[in-house]
Amino acid sequence: MANILEINNLTVHFPINIGTVRAVDDVSWQLREGEVMGLVGESGCGKSTLGFSILRLLRPPGEIVSGQMFFQGRDIVRMGEKELLGLRGRKIAMIFQDPLTSLNPLFRIDQHYLETMFTHDRHLKKEQALEKARSMLESLGISPDRLLEYPHQLSGGMRQRIMIGLALILNPQLLIADEPTTALDVIVEAQFLDLLAHLQKQFNLTIILITHNLGNVAQLADRITVMYGGNMAEMAEAGAIFANPMHPYTRGLLSSIPNIKLDQPKLQTMPGSPPDLVNPPPGCVFHPRCPRAMDICRTRKPPAVEKDGHLVACWLFS
Ligand SMILES: Nc1ncnc2c1ncn2[C@@H]1O[C@H](COP(=O)(O)OP(=O)(O)O)[C@@H](O)[C@H]1O
Ligand SMILES: [Mg+2]
Repeated sequence: MANILEINNLTVHFPINIGTVRAVDDVSWQLREGEVMGLVGESGCGKSTLGFSILRLLRPPGEIVSGQMFFQGRDIVRMGEKELLGLRGRKIAMIFQDPLTSLNPLFRIDQHYLETMFTHDRHLKKEQALEKARSMLESLGISPDRLLEYPHQLSGGMRQRIMIGLALILNPQLLIADEPTTALDVIVEAQFLDLLAHLQKQFNLTIILITHNLGNVAQLADRITVMYGGNMAEMAEAGAIFANPMHPYTRGLLSSIPNIKLDQPKLQTMPGSPPDLVNPPPGCVFHPRCPRAMDICRTRKPPAVEKDGHLVACWLFS
C-alpha cells in the first residue's frame, strides 16, 4: 500500500523560560493510505505535539526545528499559509477529546456544518450544503432533525459524533483523532470506536488514533506506534504488538491492561513517570525506568531497527 504521509527526522521544540522542551525528537514515521494507526504512550510523551505538527497547528511557543513531512508528495513543513489553509480540514482533519470546547454553544448544529462548508466553498448552495449535512448525520446514526438543536441539547457521545461529522464533511483523506473518547463513558466509548471503524471504511479514511490507552486501539488499529519521551519506541502490526511486544516500554504498557497476559517477566506496574523533556535522560530516554537497562542504554540513544517485523528502538535488539 502507498504511503499517504512520510515523516522524516521530525524534531519539535517548545522553548520556555527554564529551557527547551524536546517534545518530539528526531521521529521518522510512515502512514499507509487507508490504515488506522494507533499512537499510544503515557501522557506527556509527545503524541499531541506530533498530531498538531502534521497540521502545522502547534501551540506557541512550539516550533518545528527540523525534519520533513511529505503528504501526497508535498512537504508540509515548507508549506506557506495559503497552502496550509487548503490542507487543514479539507485534506487532513483533527478531532479532540472534548467536543464541548469545539462546538459553539450559541450556534445550532446545522450552523456549525454550514459554516464549515461555506468557509471552504463560498459558492456552495445552501440547500445542497444542508443535504450534505443531513446525509452526514445519517452516516453518524443521528436523526437529521437534530441539526436544528444546540450543542447542550445533545449527549456527550452525540456531540462527539457531531464533531467527527464536522471533521469529515469536507472529505479529508487523513483524520487525526486525539484522545477522542477520553471524555466518554465506556459504553459510549465502545460505540464511538465502532462508528469510527465504520466511517473509516465508508470514507476510505486514513486515521491516526491517539490514545494513552492501549486497550482502546486493540480493536481498531491496523498498526500501533508506541511513543515515549518524544521518541518512537516501537511500531508494528497491532496483532504483533499484543502478541510479541519487544520494547520494554511496550511490555510495561501492556501489563498495565487487565486481561492481557505476557509469558515473560512481568512488569505489573511501571515504576516512575515519563521524563522531564527539558532535561531528558542521556542515552535511551526510557533507561531510568527500564527493568532491562544495560550500560550502553545510559549513554547512547538506540536507533530504530527492524526486527521480526517490528521497528524497535532498543539496544536489546540492535
Ligand atoms: N504549549 C506548550 N508549551 C510548552 N510545553 C508544551 C506545550 N505543549 C506541550 N508541551 C510539552 O511537550 C511535551 C509533549 O506534550 P504532548 O505532546 O501534549 O504529550 P501527549 O499528547 O503525549 O500527552 C510535554 O512535556 C509537554 O509539557
Ligand atoms: Mg495529548
